[in-house]
Amino acid sequence: MSSQPLLEVVGERDAYAGVMRFYDLAKRQEWQVRDLPWNELPPIPEGKGSPQRRSRRRDMWRSVLTQQLQADMLACSMASQLLNIAPDPEAKLYYSTMVQDESRHTEAWLKLVVEAGGTAERDPYLDELAHMTLEADTLEEKVFQMQVFFERLIIGRFRLIARSSRGTVLEDLCNRLTTDDGIHHGAGMAYERVLLQGTGRRMNSILVASANRLLPVFVKHALWRPKERAIIGSAMQSRDAERLREDLEIGVRLAESLGLDVSDVQMPQLG
Ligand SMILES: [Fe+2]
Ligand SMILES: [Fe+2]
Repeated sequence: MSSQPLLEVVGERDAYAGVMRFYDLAKRQEWQVRDLPWNELPPIPEGKGSPQRRSRRRDMWRSVLTQQLQADMLACSMASQLLNIAPDPEAKLYYSTMVQDESRHTEAWLKLVVEAGGTAERDPYLDELAHMTLEADTLEEKVFQMQVFFERLIIGRFRLIARSSRGTVLEDLCNRLTTDDGIHHGAGMAYERVLLQGTGRRMNSILVASANRLLPVFVKHALWRPKERAIIGSAMQSRDAERLREDLEIGVRLAESLGLDVSDVQMPQLG
């Protein structure tokens, strides 16, 4: 960090105006786990039909909740790492809100998963992806993978879950997380733009090489199915493959919008 006094710097550097805007927005949007409709709505959809059918549905939902809990626990580690290593005071202010957000998300999932009957199987590839981002050498790679890519994609997942869980605590939580992760993604785009300024070809190749290591694991994560959801069958698998293709295209578009040259990115073959 520079030796300039913090107060003279923060909020006055033009390049960081975007990051500061998201810092203000994050503070205004903050909510509490107790604000969720815990005593008014069922935690997850109750389902219809025979007891066996309903218990299968519940296992499916427990598995969905477990994956989101896992993702937010990993997001806590990533956000706190970003808070620790980001050299810019504006980014540190912003990341202080993101650490709180991810902790609150984890707290909400923990409570919800208990109400739904407990956790299910973890996705091993999600752990591997998070590990790769935590171990990445540069801040530019971490911000790109976590905020530009993962947090953009998760928004679509929350919308999807909310649509299939109307009138539940789960729907309410997903709607809140859509807003929060919209802010996380926006802040990441704003900061990555600042970080990439003047870094040139070398950083471009670092980011491309790291995308080429990450993408095959991302594909495994996207197509992974725990046993609780294996019964959903092959119709779901082709939809998953379609969604994965869209996700990869979004990643490429985001990289291009940051001025990166993606011509050396090896897109995974999806058959
Ligand atoms: Fe989160
Ligand atoms: Fe997030």
